[in-house]
Amino acid sequence: MPDSSPTPLRAGIVGTGAISDSHARAIAAYDGAELVGVTDHDPTRAAAFAERWGGVATAPDLDALLALGVDVLHICTPPSVHADQAVAAFAAGAHVICEKPAALSLAELDRMTDAAAAADRRLAIVFQQRTGTAAAHVRGLLQAGAFGRPLVATCQTLWYRPQEYFDVPWRGNWATEGGGPTLGHGIHQLDLLAHLLGDWAMASGQLWRLGRETATEDVSTAVLTFRNGVVASVVTSALSPRETSSIRIDTELATITVDHLYGHAHENWRITPAPGVPAETTDAWRLPEHEEGSGHEPLVREVYDALRAGRPLPAVADHPARSLEIVTAIYASAASGSPVAAEALRDDVAHLRSLESPVTDLRPAAGAARGDDAERV
Ligand SMILES: NC(=O)c1ccc[n+]([C@@H]2O[C@H](COP(=O)([O-])OP(=O)(O)OC[C@H]3O[C@@H](n4cnc5c(N)ncnc54)[C@H](O)[C@@H]3O)[C@@H](O)[C@H]2O)c1
Repeated sequence: MPDSSPTPLRAGIVGTGAISDSHARAIAAYDGAELVGVTDHDPTRAAAFAERWGGVATAPDLDALLALGVDVLHICTPPSVHADQAVAAFAAGAHVICEKPAALSLAELDRMTDAAAAADRRLAIVFQQRTGTAAAHVRGLLQAGAFGRPLVATCQTLWYRPQEYFDVPWRGNWATEGGGPTLGHGIHQLDLLAHLLGDWAMASGQLWRLGRETATEDVSTAVLTFRNGVVASVVTSALSPRETSSIRIDTELATITVDHLYGHAHENWRITPAPGVPAETTDAWRLPEHEEGSGHEPLVREVYDALRAGRPLPAVADHPARSLEIVTAIYASAASGSPVAAEALRDDVAHLRSLESPVTDLRPAAGAARGDDAERV
């Protein structure tokens, strides 16, 4: 492990809810780091975390936590407060590892990246599905052209969230959650798809409300094109009882699939050669002997290694804006009814600030209220 720094990185966590334990585990697994303190605006949550994690110090607020001398702040709060907390961390000289989605809008994310650049600190967004030995292997082969030209892809996030999930006050509304499952859930698979295929070129999207009482969508559909010529069909749903997260990429020489739910290991990946592809070619596709699944641990390890060595962020944490751009383009396209090109995305000033967009409501009661039975399919 690169170790240009003699002292361990001092890590802090803001927000000690559900995902914070994954960060604490990743910090504990890393030799050159220590968790020096946590804070949560609900002190009982911070206290419960401290009890789970060996009595780590709890600070009354973020300023007090940063004042402990934090090198890396892990932001594990809801997305509506990520931007302000990241900016505060950069001002205090800390690097930031921030949970997805980075922020509620690209404008907020721009504020975070500008503050990082001004302070010469790094901003890593947690898209842990980029990690794992299989994803790295497949990405390397795709980049080397070993599968021939990639042609067509599907990207599905078919999850199930009951009505109670949307009833939590900060969820299901544009102001505090920022968007629906496309932003909150689908972004993981979209991010992995773009990690494998590179920059996107065009997006057209539709937002649907099919089953839940929510101000946002509960399902979205989209078609994306990528700079390398791939066309991808995307479905994101919060209504799907048999849950899966799936990506499929058909190239000239192979079909590559990953089917999982919240994380993948080698067993979740499959590479199927096209008829007639010789064994000399397919031998090189075999997944490596050494296996590590995707997760927070490899992500934090790779980011910490880079920070300690003074290197740029690794591929598992670069392009912080790319998947939020794709998501923004899906919402913007749903609002305008037209495809959105990557170059034109930032002309849509309203969608840079908020993803709020019209949602087509096809629930029977909504259709009856509108008196437009004919529109229902
Ligand atoms: N990477 C993943 O797979 C993954 C999985 C789950 C959640 N997440 C993301 O992690 C973030 C947190 O989600 P969660 O499920 O842990 O939520 P949660 O509600 O369980 O926890 C959030 C915590 O933040 C605290 N908090 C809220 N506002 C605060 C503030 N201003 N200052 C200090 N503390 C504050 C809350 O009291 C709560 O304890 C979200 O961005 C979510 O999308 C990522």
